[in-house]
Amino acid sequence: MCGIIGFTGKLDAKEVLLEGLKTLEYRGYDSAGIAFVTDGGIKTIKRKGKVDNLYNTVKEESNDVTTCGIGHTRWATHGGVSDINSHPHTAGKVTLIHNGIIENYQELQAELETKGKKPISQTDTEIAAMVINDLYDGNPINTIKKADEVLHGAYGFCIMFEDFPGEIYCIRNGSPLVAGICDDGAVIASDVVALIKYTKDYFVLPEHQIAKLTPDKITVMDLDGNELCPEMLHVSWDIAAARKGGYDYFMLKEIHEQPEALRNTILPRVKNGMPDFTTDGISDDLFTDCNRIIIAGCGTAMHAGLVGKNMIEKLIRVPVSVEIASEFRYADPIVDEKTLLITISQSGETADTLAALRLAKEKGAKTLSIVNVKGSSIARESDYVLYTHAGPEIAVASTKAYTVQLACIYLTAFRMAIAKKCISDAEVKELVACLMKTIEDVEKILKYDKQIETIAHMLDKAEDLFFIGRGLDYALSCEGSIKLKEISYIHSEAYAAGELKHGTISLITDNVPCIALATQEHVYAKMISNVQEVRSRGAGVILITNAGVTVDAALCDHQIILPKMDDRFAPFGAAVVLQYIAYYAAVSRGLNVDQPRNLAKSVTVE
Ligand code: G6P
Repeated sequence: MCGIIGFTGKLDAKEVLLEGLKTLEYRGYDSAGIAFVTDGGIKTIKRKGKVDNLYNTVKEESNDVTTCGIGHTRWATHGGVSDINSHPHTAGKVTLIHNGIIENYQELQAELETKGKKPISQTDTEIAAMVINDLYDGNPINTIKKADEVLHGAYGFCIMFEDFPGEIYCIRNGSPLVAGICDDGAVIASDVVALIKYTKDYFVLPEHQIAKLTPDKITVMDLDGNELCPEMLHVSWDIAAARKGGYDYFMLKEIHEQPEALRNTILPRVKNGMPDFTTDGISDDLFTDCNRIIIAGCGTAMHAGLVGKNMIEKLIRVPVSVEIASEFRYADPIVDEKTLLITISQSGETADTLAALRLAKEKGAKTLSIVNVKGSSIARESDYVLYTHAGPEIAVASTKAYTVQLACIYLTAFRMAIAKKCISDAEVKELVACLMKTIEDVEKILKYDKQIETIAHMLDKAEDLFFIGRGLDYALSCEGSIKLKEISYIHSEAYAAGELKHGTISLITDNVPCIALATQEHVYAKMISNVQEVRSRGAGVILITNAGVTVDAALCDHQIILPKMDDRFAPFGAAVVLQYIAYYAAVSRGLNVDQPRNLAKSVTVE
């Protein structure tokens, strides 16, 4: 969370920064600000509200010509949403932007106050600026080295020193920073989407190393100033992938990108009809030894794990637990050398998931991560990585990342079954064929948009609703529910359909609709009974079924029928239906689908 950009070079830095902030806005949109070098010193303009607000203010307030500056879009943690708490923050000769949380800021503040130095904002970031200014000895590298020892917590900083115009100094611990150079200058950002306009070649700044940006060079140094050479990475998608491309919202565009994302994720891993992880460098030994599997993640990524658990357990009969990463890390979990930890994360930077990974490694587990962003922290720190190839996901509500995460877990389950010799080649080939068929099924479901747009109006007045399902449909209900909540602000709960009568059914009235998933044949009859139960208590029902089942017209208000899919793969199709329901419910309420209130895309704080 929080978007960071820094630029120094030949271009109009204000334009570079403002445009960069626009692309990074999904990381936080409480406020935004820029600071840039002018003949009269460093000038800062910052405002609460969206980047557009800042854009207009900058146009009104500044004619300055500048080629060096830093910019920030904020997701507030310490200190409310206000102009004063926005970044950049300045203390003496130091102006900086920050992504993360300085955990010992109160202690540091108390120390500064004994020296008569008081902050003007309520932020931990201003304290960091004051500390760095306090330590400043005329040498930025020495100063940052000392600051790195004193500041505790997560941080990605871009710092400008008044004495060094045209130079930007950066350091990070935890929070992401990537940088690249082009003919027009040097650019650093918290996400590669802001670099891509300038270069497709970039590096991830290693933790506790310093990047110094000058107009024609980026020097990476250790804390003693010794030059280092970070590994260069290359982005395979281009700038169009990070733009809306004619869609009203990124979310809608990303829903539509699912067939391609699935194709890119699945096809390179299928050889002669069999799952193949050779190019990922993952050998079957990883799977033969483990007698326990833990899947950890947050939000949608964790929900992908719930679906994955089902497939893995069915195929290899090894217990799988799915853990919310923020709980796992403090739960004194049972993990040993025979445990395989699978972390799932779109961004690869989610702080709790990263912490879960580190904890499991410490306890001796082998680790595999399913990650979308190349070179991200979780990818780098895992023993093995399966990259999803979804391209950039910009909308806060995760869509294409989820379905490709499912694809990767399914492929992993298939490969595990081969490694553990619990499946024949013919059976695996059949499963792989079903997985490949999901691509065309998703293509078909994308054409349900008009139908679902109409159906979603049923939720216009709803304040509460339930998603119900059994087995895989329950796992999917969890995802449907979070999707709807986060963008439409309708309160909803996902419930195992059979559990509803143990208390929760008391909440069902004719004002509380139910979205019922009934795609699983082995529990279909039971599921339909549960739908009857809510129906007889007045609930409006949207029923999602597999093809080939006819339901009594009185059972539901609307039936959405998937193309005929193998039950085990129905989540791929049903997920798209649920994404559409959430999307159209939010659009119908006139909400900003891509930037729901209080949320941010990449959660790099705990
Ligand atoms: C945030 C996002 C969710 C996402 C979760 C995990 O809460 O809003 O959409 O599922 O983080 O993110 P990750 O990048 O680890 O998949």
